[in-house]
Amino acid sequence: MTSVVDVTVDGERLHASLERLAAIGATPGGGVTRLALTDEDKAGRDLVRSWMEEAELAVRVDDFGNMIGRRAGTEEGPAVLFGSHCDTVRRGGRYDGAVGVLGAIEVVRTLGEQGITTRRPLEVVNWTNEEGVRFEPAMLASGGVAGRFDQEYVYSRTDRDGRRFGDELRRIGYLGREEDRPRPPAAYLELHVEQGPVLEDAGLPVGVVEGIVGITWIEAMLEGRADHAGPSPMRLRRDALAAAARLITGIERLANDTDGAVATVGRLNAEPNVINTIPGRVVMSVDFRHADPERLEILVAGLEKLAMSVQLATDVEIRLDRFWTSEPTPFDPGVVGAVQAACEELALPVRRLWSGAGHDAKYLQDVCPAGMIFVRSEGGLSHSEEEYSAPADIEAGANALLRAVLRLAGVA
Ligand code: GLV
Ligand code: MN
Ligand code: MN
Repeated sequence: MTSVVDVTVDGERLHASLERLAAIGATPGGGVTRLALTDEDKAGRDLVRSWMEEAELAVRVDDFGNMIGRRAGTEEGPAVLFGSHCDTVRRGGRYDGAVGVLGAIEVVRTLGEQGITTRRPLEVVNWTNEEGVRFEPAMLASGGVAGRFDQEYVYSRTDRDGRRFGDELRRIGYLGREEDRPRPPAAYLELHVEQGPVLEDAGLPVGVVEGIVGITWIEAMLEGRADHAGPSPMRLRRDALAAAARLITGIERLANDTDGAVATVGRLNAEPNVINTIPGRVVMSVDFRHADPERLEILVAGLEKLAMSVQLATDVEIRLDRFWTSEPTPFDPGVVGAVQAACEELALPVRRLWSGAGHDAKYLQDVCPAGMIFVRSEGGLSHSEEEYSAPADIEAGANALLRAVLRLAGVA
């Protein structure tokens, strides 16, 4: 048998799998739209399930639609869990999430071919609705497993057309059982594209992730008065969209004035959205992120103050609903150390970095020691059709995952 130290994944096979999955929901611009619990998601899941089964994983689905493929170890007890998600944002990239799920399957294929059995059981996971684009908030199903959200809350989330998560889960045939949720694992690992420019800037293919920044999502509702665009003098208007514009530029200023902060208004709906009516109502999202929990709170307090001043100046009523917060989360030093050691074993030069994006690993850190491996993103682009990571970098990341899994699970 080949020595365990020499075992590496099949980069070409992994690349081919990524290409096949990317064809499901492919967009004309070279990206992917595979929103959670849509027909495209179902088709992607069916393919992933077939690959899990081919890799001799025993597949089960839990009540949140999470897909878990299990490989027995020589010992009973908690598994080493690793994976990511296959849902995407609208017009997203081919790699966000997919690299982690298909990289995990590739690790298991490799272990099978090489006849390697681990001491701890292994479980590969595809989390449902990581993106939080169709059903807000993000990381909904890993949050459910971690006990952050109860089943009723998760099932009752609705998309923009009023369709419920629970109904859509049943519709696509991925409603499983509560007793099939992943049990608290020995450790959780997630391979993912960086989605930022740090590794490219450092000239490194792979990075060791130390933690995930804090994120808070707020819905702002602006209530003005719809009226005719012609006869209404400017000073008598209560234009909700004009007030929203003030709010948006203020939000941008708040982030610019706070070191390390980012803020985004990514979703906005103006009513009635016609050319000759003053917008009477706007509903928009605010996404604030910071690694420091206190600074995150300062940003929110800044928004509240800003909303009051815009309301006073425009006579448009503004309500804020802060509906989700994911606290800044440092990963477990033991898992971070295992990832670092795995990279050193492969003679991969790495650096440590924090994630500016949310990941299911955040909620897994609630229930077990967790960590992540990043793969360089070209141009730092993500949530974009132009997202790209080179096959060689993805292969290096999958090899780091393989080594880290073997360290955490032990070889029989
Ligand atoms: C998920 O991708 C997020 O960071 O919003
Ligand atoms: Mn992702
Ligand atoms: Mn994403």
